[in-house]
Amino acid sequence: MRKFYKHLIITYNYFMFMMSGKHCLHGGSSINAFGGDFSSVGSKDVIRSDVADASYDPAPEVSEMIRNHTTWLLRNSSQIHSEGLIETISNTRGIEKENIAVGGGSSNIMYVIFQNLLKIGTNTVTLDPMYGEYQHLTENILNGSVKRAKQVKDNGFKIKVGDILDSISSKTDIITIVNPNNPTGQYLGKTEIEKLLGEIPENTYLLVDEAYNGYIGKKESMEKSASEYENLIVLKSMSKEYALSGVRVGYASAHKNVINKISKFLPPWGIGTFGQLAGIMALKNEDYYTKIISKTKDIQRKFISEIGRIENLKPYDSACNFFLVELMKNDAENVRKTLASKNVFVRNPRSQSTHLGNDFIRITTQSEEQNSRILSCLKDIKPL
Ligand SMILES: Cc1ncc(COP(=O)(O)O)c(C=O)c1O
Repeated sequence: MRKFYKHLIITYNYFMFMMSGKHCLHGGSSINAFGGDFSSVGSKDVIRSDVADASYDPAPEVSEMIRNHTTWLLRNSSQIHSEGLIETISNTRGIEKENIAVGGGSSNIMYVIFQNLLKIGTNTVTLDPMYGEYQHLTENILNGSVKRAKQVKDNGFKIKVGDILDSISSKTDIITIVNPNNPTGQYLGKTEIEKLLGEIPENTYLLVDEAYNGYIGKKESMEKSASEYENLIVLKSMSKEYALSGVRVGYASAHKNVINKISKFLPPWGIGTFGQLAGIMALKNEDYYTKIISKTKDIQRKFISEIGRIENLKPYDSACNFFLVELMKNDAENVRKTLASKNVFVRNPRSQSTHLGNDFIRITTQSEEQNSRILSCLKDIKPL
């Protein structure tokens, strides 16, 4: 009975949370610590582990080009439809230009897709837990409904194709999967995604959001195969893997009929000079990112094992640069607020799930020095 009431309260809190505003809830309020006018920008004191941005800098070649041409880049309009960026994506990722659409971050393209490919009252299947924007787009923008395929802590939040298939019906318009998933860092391999595609109706879209694909490797990406299916859309963010969150660059890879339908709604100059240049230079310096991601994963392995040694904290493995920690004797809001008072920001992921409740925090791995600070703050927290 107690369990039933606990579940009821968690579900109620979750729905109140999701209904609480016109925008989806995200992490990242730590940006406010730098001042709304950026007056404290660059302060080393603030740890932004509440967003899943990279802990490393963009490739040196990116920053060097921007440093050398800042004033010119500020003053000039960019290419109208980012033709150079599309060409570079095509050459470096092996995707035909007709299968690529680019936008101001993958969020920009996500909104265009939902508003133009889908209808009012759309039926969406998502993972649970998962990045909340797809649920928000379905329920609050399109007045539609969401079915959630649950991943549970007992098996480390593993995603199962069967659970997704069990959640779809003839009414499902779109299945959205964040792969690897945010906030769990679990993923389906390419062959499992192909299996899913083989089982779903041809008129049901499958949107695979690969914002964190860089952490599992390109061989698991569907971006090159998207041209082969009329119902597959692969969304790529350049914010995370390429450490370009501030300049807003993303792209979609899909069948040319899908690209034609969405690209006409993407505005001219949708990506400015800084974003176009940074995106191009980042894609041309892939080796740097391969090495830095591998180093980040080593740092994270050590960080997770150190957190696991703190009493009453249980970290979960993750393929991404963030991971969930279960609080055995605490409450996520209490931990989040206590850390925030020390300028260490972590995410309470409860708005991303119907069942995580207030028992988990999501931490994004930082530099070794910053991780030590997070560790010592976690050690200081008294159990409730
Ligand atoms: C799964 C997922 N998709 C998309 C985004 C947004 O990415 P972008 O910066 O490309 O808009 C995020 C940001 O956190 C994310 O976690």
